[in-house]
Amino acid sequence: MSKNLISINNLDYSISKNVKFRLKIKKFELNKSDSILIYGDSGTGKSTFLNLVSGALSPKKGKINVLGTEITNTSSSQKDVIRGDHFGIVFQTFNLLPYLSVKNNILLGKAYSKKKELKSNNEEVKILMDKLSLNYESLIERKAYELSIGQQQRVAVARALIGKPEIILADEPTSALDKNNQKEFINLLFKSLDDNEQGLIMVSHDNKLSEKFKTVKNINEICEINND
Ligand SMILES: Nc1ncnc2c1ncn2[C@@H]1O[C@H](COP(=O)(O)OP(=O)(O)OP(=O)(O)O)[C@@H](O)[C@H]1O
Ligand SMILES: [Mg+2]
Repeated sequence: MSKNLISINNLDYSISKNVKFRLKIKKFELNKSDSILIYGDSGTGKSTFLNLVSGALSPKKGKINVLGTEITNTSSSQKDVIRGDHFGIVFQTFNLLPYLSVKNNILLGKAYSKKKELKSNNEEVKILMDKLSLNYESLIERKAYELSIGQQQRVAVARALIGKPEIILADEPTSALDKNNQKEFINLLFKSLDDNEQGLIMVSHDNKLSEKFKTVKNINEICEINND
């Protein structure tokens, strides 16, 4: 089996004719067991980069290969399936549905997944909640809007990790936390990875959380950004 999870070549992305922002990537690779922290100031394209990697945004030119499939050539419904089966994503703003329970929020990301058995699997939800220090009995049926910010963040991570996806993308998941809790949170994230074959890309505005990551890069080392 190939060690490669994601491979990007000669990518060129621009939002529209009216917006100047342009992002180019010559070459980028994520392999099994990699953990990459990409840091950069606000507006430098970190979220855009993750959205390209997951197929949520499409480039004008170039190739993005995910686990052997060229996603730039697939339909948006095929991309949804690939994302559901192989990606776990922690969004910058969590994207929890406030009126859904913790359980349904955790299982929500698998709506498009072929891993059907997951959709009602309480056991894995419980294991993950335990790992993330979320009390199962008291929180499982609670609505997302009834959680603290730190708890919402942990639920967002549980949702990303459920089903043991090969690729984890995390967009600034520590921004709502103070310094001590940020560190603890990163420890928790690494501890919760199910096996060391998973590949992790995290983006952040700073590189202070770099300790645990194998690779730490400024976004400018990966992408050529044109913002004016
Ligand atoms: N939908 C959009 N329409 C127009 N411009 C956009 C859109 N989304 C992003 N941009 C622009 O693209 C650039 C990159 O945005 P992006 O969200 O990737 O930055 P970021 O590094 O994630 O920033 P932050 O640290 O604030 O989250 C910015 O200049 C932003 O204004
Ligand atoms: Mg962002």
